[in-house]
Amino acid sequence: MEAPPENAGVRPAPVGGGLMAPATQLERCVTGIEGLDNILSGGIPRGNMVLVAGSVGTGKTTLCLEFLVRGAERGERSLFLSVTEASDKLIQNLSTFEFFRAELVTNGSLVFVDLPVLYDRLGLEHEELTEEEIGILIRTIRDLVRQLGVKRLVLDSLTSVGYRIRRDERIRDFMLRLGLELSDAGCTALLVSEIGPTPSRYSLHGVEEAIVDGVILLWNARRQGDILRVLQIIKMRGTSHSQAQYVVELTPIGLLMAPHLKGGQGEGQ
Ligand SMILES: Nc1ncnc2c1ncn2[C@@H]1O[C@H](COP(=O)(O)OP(=O)(O)OP(=O)(O)O)[C@@H](O)[C@H]1O
Ligand SMILES: [Mg+2]
Repeated sequence: MEAPPENAGVRPAPVGGGLMAPATQLERCVTGIEGLDNILSGGIPRGNMVLVAGSVGTGKTTLCLEFLVRGAERGERSLFLSVTEASDKLIQNLSTFEFFRAELVTNGSLVFVDLPVLYDRLGLEHEELTEEEIGILIRTIRDLVRQLGVKRLVLDSLTSVGYRIRRDERIRDFMLRLGLELSDAGCTALLVSEIGPTPSRYSLHGVEEAIVDGVILLWNARRQGDILRVLQIIKMRGTSHSQAQYVVELTPIGLLMAPHLKGGQGEGQ
């Protein structure tokens, strides 16, 4: 991937500050990931649907899981819709992080649903989902969100769903309808997008990034033989935000972020 435009020196805008700050601040979904909240001027505007795009192993799932755990801790019911990894394995992996407590799962604050199981139960059997089947999927997610009072949702991954919604106009329609349902319910969503190391876009079909309210990009940068995970907010509707690049570290206490100091040799992706 071409390195996103450099914005060295761009500082996180203070809450309520900056030329682009709206007169009325939108309610925030405080992610609970301190570094991320700082560069988002306090959090993701509530109800936003955000793409978390990155190549393999860049930390997409870990970021999304921490977002949900931090939300559940704050009393916001959180739902993880998993396509690529089984829930049991995800919970096992989560238990290695210090910020995770198993009670969040047992008391229903943090809910995991395996989408392949849901597909089976709903009888969504066509390799390429029909319009009717897409409608069933949206209504099922909507009902889950409404019935459980879900305030944070993760779909890991939108790409996997996108492989079964093959036409651009259908993925556009799916996302527009899902986005409306979620924002009506005051639910903030992260949709994982798997992209290659040198992509020319942020999603499978290329239409997804235009529809979502935000794009958080993760990639691997190489510096003197080491791999650094780097994060950048490409867009986030409804708030001012930093456009700078940040080095991300996945630690037992959660995701830590520091400004990406550039100018080293061998930087790239
Ligand atoms: N429990 C953990 N403790 C420490 N580091 C971890 C832990 N879980 C994941 N990591 C680190 O994060 C990396 C991948 O994280 P993650 O699974 O979130 O990435 P991803 O972008 O979702 O990957 P994929 O594209 O394969 O789904 C691992 O390779 C490892 O370096
Ligand atoms: Mg993942």
